[in-house]
Amino acid sequence: MLTVENLTVRYGAVTAVRDLSLSIGHGELVALLGPNGAGKSSTINALTGLVDAAAGRIVLDGRDISRTRTEDRIRAGLTSTPEGRHIFANLTVAENLRLGAATRRDPKGVRADIDRFLALFPVLSQRYGQAAGTLSGGEQQMLAISRSLMSRPKLLLLDEPSLGLAPKIVVQIFDFIGQLKAEGLTLLVVEQNAAQALRFADRVHVVTSGTLRYSGPPAGLADEHGLLNLYIGG
Ligand SMILES: Nc1ncnc2c1ncn2[C@@H]1O[C@H](COP(=O)(O)OP(=O)(O)OP(=O)(O)O)[C@@H](O)[C@H]1O
Ligand SMILES: [Mg+2]
Repeated sequence: MLTVENLTVRYGAVTAVRDLSLSIGHGELVALLGPNGAGKSSTINALTGLVDAAAGRIVLDGRDISRTRTEDRIRAGLTSTPEGRHIFANLTVAENLRLGAATRRDPKGVRADIDRFLALFPVLSQRYGQAAGTLSGGEQQMLAISRSLMSRPKLLLLDEPSLGLAPKIVVQIFDFIGQLKAEGLTLLVVEQNAAQALRFADRVHVVTSGTLRYSGPPAGLADEHGLLNLYIGG
């Protein structure tokens, strides 16, 4: 579904991502793991077009989208839930959900999808008309993911969905991610919480200092010189 070839991302003199190649097959959940500053968010943001790729190719369903605008990538089926959630604190839960559908032209479908997420997350339903900033961290993450899903992505990129959340809530968030996978969604999940990310991962990539160190099945990580412990800390 997605092929990334030799992606490089630079911020001035800083090379955040170097020659990174990976692929994500239809229906797969691929985990991208690595420590702080490894270049995980830079990779996600280059895939969505929020930052420019200095080099490399991004191909979605056979179409080169390397130079495509972010909103057109969303229309093509690629959406991300950014690190730190970035919900609009002063807007209501309802308004946040509707913003996720900004690229859609089917008001009835949008309405139906909002109803679906409200049924899925009763807490969002209870807080429907309330400012999103008043939700707890876990509720905001559920809202952020739901908002991303409002664009009906084929491929969802999640940047550290567990960030700043209590362990119990992290498990709930990943239960939901597992459910999305079971429904057929293709996912790339960036995480520092390797244990949770690997619960549903078909394949895993480990990146440090902008360079891929491991690509393969989750089970292989244990054999690779204790990579997981070395770079991620369990
Ligand atoms: N806008 C920016 N301008 C300059 N340097 C940046 C910018 N964004 C990121 N960097 C640098 O690029 C490198 C990779 O950062 P990135 O945010 O992609 O890492 P990350 O793996 O997502 O880290 P974290 O786990 O802390 O979120 C870091 O050295 C970071 O300081
Ligand atoms: Mg990051």
